[in-house]
Amino acid sequence: MKPILTVQSITKYYGSEKNITKALNGISFCAQPSEFTGVMGASGSGKTTLLRCISTLDNVSTGKIFVDGEDITNLSEKSVAAFRREKLGFVFQDYNLLNPLTLRENIALALTIRGMEEEKINAIVEETARKLHITDILDKFPSEVSGGQKQRCACARAIVNKPALLLADEPTGALDSKSSADLMDTLHELNENQKITIFMVTHDAFAASHCSRILFLQDGRIFNELIRGNKSRREFFQDILDVMSLLGGDVAHVR
Ligand SMILES: Nc1ncnc2c1ncn2[C@@H]1O[C@H](COP(=O)(O)OP(=O)(O)OP(=O)(O)O)[C@@H](O)[C@H]1O
Ligand SMILES: [Mg+2]
Repeated sequence: MKPILTVQSITKYYGSEKNITKALNGISFCAQPSEFTGVMGASGSGKTTLLRCISTLDNVSTGKIFVDGEDITNLSEKSVAAFRREKLGFVFQDYNLLNPLTLRENIALALTIRGMEEEKINAIVEETARKLHITDILDKFPSEVSGGQKQRCACARAIVNKPALLLADEPTGALDSKSSADLMDTLHELNENQKITIFMVTHDAFAASHCSRILFLQDGRIFNELIRGNKSRREFFQDILDVMSLLGGDVAHVR
C-alpha cells in the first residue's frame, strides 16, 4: 500500500542564530491509508510543530514531507492553498468555527466556496451531520451549542471535502470527559467506517487509546512507538500509561 503520509528526516528550527530552538530534530515515519496515528509527548516536545509542518502552516528547515505522493515542502503559494483545500481537514482545540454562521453554514462553507450546487451541498451536509450526530442542531449558531457539539461540527466541516488526511491538534483539549469520549468514539467510527486517515496530537491517554498507533516525541525526536494491533482499547490504554510513566514529567493529564 502507498502511504498517505511520508515524513523524511525533518528538522525545524525556530529563531535566529543567537536564540535558536530545535523544535524537530530528525523525524521520519509513514502513515498508511486509514491509519489512525496519535502523537504524544511532554509540553514543548514538538507535537504542534510537527502537525504545523505536515499541514504546511509552517515550513520545515530540512527534510521532506509527502502527502498522497506529493512533496509538500516545495509548493508554490498557489499550490499550498489548493493542497490545504483539497487534501486536508483540520480540527483544532478551540473549534475555529465562524460565529456569525450557523453550524450548517460552517460545515457547508468549503463546498459553497467551490461553487457546488446548493442541493448537492445540502445533501452532503445532511449526510455528514448524521455521521456526527448533529442533525438536530444544524440551524443553531456556535454560541447556542455545547463544546462537544461545536467540536463535532468542526469534525463535520473537516471531513466534508473528503480529505486525504484529517489533522487534529488536541481535539478533546477543551471538552469535559463525556464529550471527549463521544468525540473519540466519533473519530474512531470515521476512521473505521469511512477509512479516513487521521493524525492527532493529544495529551490525553484515553483519547490516544482510540488510535491504531502512537508516536511519542521527546525533544523533537521520536522516542517510542506503540502499535495497537489486536489489543483491546483498555489494554492499549495501559500500554500508553506505561510509556508515559517511562517518559516522566508532564507528559499527560491522566483521567
Ligand atoms: N513560533 C515559535 N517561535 C519560537 N519557538 C517556538 C515557536 N513555536 C514553538 N516553538 C518552540 O518549539 C518547541 C516545540 O514546540 P511545540 O509547540 O511544537 O510543542 P508541543 O509539543 O506542541 O507542546 P504543548 O504540549 O505545550 O502544546 C518548544 O521549545 C517551543 O518553545
Ligand atoms: Mg502543542
